[in-house]
Amino acid sequence: MAYEYKSDAIELKKNLCCKRIGSNIIFLPETDSTNDLIKKYLTNNVSEGTVVVAETQTGGRGRQGRSWHSPPEIGIYLSTLLKPNLELSQLSIITLLAGVAAVLTINEFSHQSAYLKWPNDILIDRKKVCGLLCEMVKKQGPPDGIIIGIGINVNQMPEQFPDHLKNIATSIRIVNGFPIDRLAVIKSFLTNLDHEYQTYLNEGESSVIKKWSLNTKLFGKKVSINRGSYETTGSAMRLDGLGRLVLLLDNGHEEAFDSGEVSIREK
Ligand code: BTN
Repeated sequence: MAYEYKSDAIELKKNLCCKRIGSNIIFLPETDSTNDLIKKYLTNNVSEGTVVVAETQTGGRGRQGRSWHSPPEIGIYLSTLLKPNLELSQLSIITLLAGVAAVLTINEFSHQSAYLKWPNDILIDRKKVCGLLCEMVKKQGPPDGIIIGIGINVNQMPEQFPDHLKNIATSIRIVNGFPIDRLAVIKSFLTNLDHEYQTYLNEGESSVIKKWSLNTKLFGKKVSINRGSYETTGSAMRLDGLGRLVLLLDNGHEEAFDSGEVSIREK
């Protein structure tokens, strides 16, 4: 079912019990990328917690320069803006906390358990159900804002994924066998994000790292981490205090990675 752009925004705002997220909610039939739109709004000093939801995106962006397939009526494409007083190095913790909020949401709706793959992919049965693109907008001094963009595969049927995604993507509908109310998923995500963000501001990064670690299957697995020009293989051990992924390398040394594309080598 398509969104009712105005009434859904009003309804969602009315039912949302958030401290910071959802101060302003905008539903749009189409945009190029909700992340890019928030970036444009930032130049007009838009408030923290502004949320943009699009029915479809014509230029949805993923990590590492990839595109994000964004067909109407079946997926969620949403971005929100945080304005914490943080340094650039703390972007990775915000990314992880958004991942925690997302995995908790998907697990509220999915009949099969979803889990995180570092840094912020959400998988069910080794297929991707959700991705997050967190971007910092910064001119001088502290960041002007952190944009959290999320794409969730909610009601796609297998044949609705393009060929290159058919074997690597899934949706909550595929897992459960019936469609899900997208607005309920959005409401849950915004509520969880608000809660995780507040907890982080009160308690610091250790709470984020603990929750992230409870929702992954990565630790103890043999993985490869691809960083463009080179690939490193080792056993995933834990996240360090900065949210970096620590690998035990074949030479017996540990190394912490702050970015890269992880592939799991064994079951
Ligand atoms: C990834 O896993 O590569 C990240 C995907 C992020 C997609 C979302 S959809 C809403 C927001 N707008 C974008 O252009 N991208 C993010």
